Amino acid sequence: MSEIFEPKNIVVTGGCGFIGSNFVHYVVNNHPEVHVTVLDKLTYAGNPENIAGLPSDRVELVVGDICDADLLDRLVPGHDAIVHYAAESHNDNSIADPEPFLRTNVEGTFRLLEAVRKYGIRYHHVSTDEVYGDLPLDDPAKFTEETPYHPSSPYSSTKASSDMLVRAWTRTYGLRTTISNCSNNYGPYQHVEKFIPRQITNIIDGVRPKLYGKGENVRDWIHTEDHSSAVWDILTKGQMGETYLIGANGERNNITVLRMILEAMGRDPEDFDWVADRPGHDRRYAIDSSKLQRELGWKPSHTDFSEGLKETIDWYVANEAWWRPAKEATEARYRAQGQ
Ligand code: NAD
Ligand code: DAU
Repeated sequence: MSEIFEPKNIVVTGGCGFIGSNFVHYVVNNHPEVHVTVLDKLTYAGNPENIAGLPSDRVELVVGDICDADLLDRLVPGHDAIVHYAAESHNDNSIADPEPFLRTNVEGTFRLLEAVRKYGIRYHHVSTDEVYGDLPLDDPAKFTEETPYHPSSPYSSTKASSDMLVRAWTRTYGLRTTISNCSNNYGPYQHVEKFIPRQITNIIDGVRPKLYGKGENVRDWIHTEDHSSAVWDILTKGQMGETYLIGANGERNNITVLRMILEAMGRDPEDFDWVADRPGHDRRYAIDSSKLQRELGWKPSHTDFSEGLKETIDWYVANEAWWRPAKEATEARYRAQGQ
């Protein structure tokens, strides 16, 4: 194991989004010595409410674009690490309009790497298992760090491109970087465009949930707090230049998850609509996280998916004021796509 890195001042990009804001909460709750500067453009997916209420001497929000090199020149000096979450993150949006994905996910990562090169600080790159493409439904194989890249969607191809930039900048310029590729997250503060929150909030609204295709596609669910603890371990204990896969053995097909939500919310498990499939829809994701567990000693703590799902449902029931403003526009977009 390499030396322990003890950051004091970190930049978290995308810290007003779903996973980034959960990471900020995680750091504030578990690492009192660390100050966090959140850099977030506050796109439709960013909400300052996600980090409201955290102590102002621990967390500062800077509203800005990761593509803005001048802003990075002002912001980065004085920090010892960047943890990069900011992205356009939704596959369906990338199919409808890929351009913002190229800009934020590829150019944005390039700008951050250039700032890291200039100021010599540590960089952790948050990526996705989707860079590996998909797995067959009827084969127990899982993704490992050695699986070749084979992205399918505009979103995942831009994330794969950003990973490649990190690898090239690390080798050529000797940057101190790590990459993590995580599976599907669930938990509080996830935008209502995503599968689990969309179905929970539809049910609250008396609207039938929407299932793509045959509902056979498998996702490997992990609670977002477990993603945060894994990123922290990689940031502080990871080997420079290495990639770590993050997952919690949470494989389930979509129809199973949807029926679990319906039942937990007291509805008939068949009370949903079949809708048009996503073009190029990845069949199955599955993560082998043994390298992370073996080398850094990480373990997930949310191992009961059904319990985590119930807590997530309760969170959306209790926080309607948080998700309500985004709901109508999101559903209008889906209607226009036949979904
Ligand atoms: P999200 O869409 O909820 O949040 C993205 C955040 O980035 C928002 O706050 C948004 O305002 C900000 N942002 C977007 N463009 C920006 C820009 N140009 N400059 C500054 N800020 C900008 O995304 P998420 O689901 O929280 O995902 C966060 C990261 O984790 C992404 O890199 C994603 O690829 C990765 N990831 C997500 C999952 C998942 O299940 N959601 C799984 C694995 C990896
Ligand atoms: O695997 C990690 C990825 O997980 C992240 O990189 C992405 O940022 C994140 O959005 C997520 O991607 P998915 O495309 O897997 O997530 P989404 O929530 O969009 O969909 C999950 C599954 O549910 C997928 O098979 C499509 C299906 N689906 C989705 C919606 C919104 C439905 O059946 N109905 C729906 O209404």
